Amino acid sequence: MKNMFDFDKLVDRAGSASVKFDLRQEIFGKKDVLPMWVADMDFETPQCIRDAVMKRASHPVYGYSFMTDAYFNAFIGWLKRRHQWEIDKEWIVFSPGIVTAINAAVLAFTEPGDGVIVQTPVYFPFSDAVKNNGRKLLNNQLLYLENSYKIDFDDLEDKAKEAKLLLLSSPHNPVSRCWSADELIRLGNICLKNGVVILSDEIHADLTLPGYKHVPLAKLSPELAEVTITCMAPSKTFNVAGLFTSQIVIKNEKLRKQFYNSMDTYHLIHGNIFGMIASEAGYTHGDKWLDALMQYVQGNFELVDDYLKNELPAFSLIKPEATFLAWIDYSKTGYSDKEMEKKLVEEASLGLNPGRIFGAGGSGFMRMNLGTPRSNVMEALNRIKKVFG
Ligand SMILES: Cc1ncc(COP(=O)(O)O)c(C=O)c1O
Repeated sequence: MKNMFDFDKLVDRAGSASVKFDLRQEIFGKKDVLPMWVADMDFETPQCIRDAVMKRASHPVYGYSFMTDAYFNAFIGWLKRRHQWEIDKEWIVFSPGIVTAINAAVLAFTEPGDGVIVQTPVYFPFSDAVKNNGRKLLNNQLLYLENSYKIDFDDLEDKAKEAKLLLLSSPHNPVSRCWSADELIRLGNICLKNGVVILSDEIHADLTLPGYKHVPLAKLSPELAEVTITCMAPSKTFNVAGLFTSQIVIKNEKLRKQFYNSMDTYHLIHGNIFGMIASEAGYTHGDKWLDALMQYVQGNFELVDDYLKNELPAFSLIKPEATFLAWIDYSKTGYSDKEMEKKLVEEASLGLNPGRIFGAGGSGFMRMNLGTPRSNVMEALNRIKKVFG
């Protein structure tokens, strides 16, 4: 049976004010690189979302709106269905984006000079949120072992003693780990022992590959629920990042009020009507599309893995468990980061994220966005082979 959803379809995104496509000249100095960098997907947003947005768009007035019960209930139902996590509506605080929420949390739960833990290589706005707000960056660098990553718990024990907040990426961008319940409990217990609040950025929660299951940290124990700020959003899940709509789940009333006040200072607690409508539709009707998406993304990962093993053995794919982002080790090529970046752009005409931007441990790696039709993935691999094969 042909797949109900056509992920092979090439959508022309150029000219749609797309960061990924329309800022290529500014970012890479070349406007025709094949763009496989910023983390949105090239697939059409699910039909159920487009229908709901079009229906609302056909109403001729776009005045002030509020976040409806239907929106909150759709999200609550999704968490229950997809993650077996039951939450109350009162626990949810709206945020336009997750990076906004991370910065608001840093301001809410720490003072200037306080220690905040990140685990590099990690999505770079984590470290920026610490440094830009004048907090002390404590890096609990991940351990790179046998083609995958682990948490350095001994180092975490040390760092937690001088930290107020930990910024966790779960599942982890860019190393693609879907942290296990055991790992999360161990991390959580270290934080509990040291009075460290945990911001668990679970924006990639829905994007686990077949065989992996995301566990919301706050679900793991009543104690962890009291110290965890969980960040979730439909933006990656349904490819609606441009609609800026996210949900921050905080059970602890005191922490929630602190966070809410931090957001409210800049009037950030109000959403836009299309983001709300899209979220409600996706969280209500998007299950089948998402399951099919992750099957397709798995196929893209398999293609990359096979191709690198057979044609480009100096490059290797880190074992993928979640996200649509491939983390590739090129250290065996012998090229420096600068040389690799130059060759990729100028000779291969590819726009990827250099690993070094994700902080310590990122040098010698690149991040390739596989949220794109397979023909693009194949084209990218062929271009790499032409230059490095
Ligand atoms: C771990 C992580 N957090 C947050 C974001 C961005 O979130 P937002 O666009 O809602 O600020 C991304 C996007 O790539 C991400 O990978």
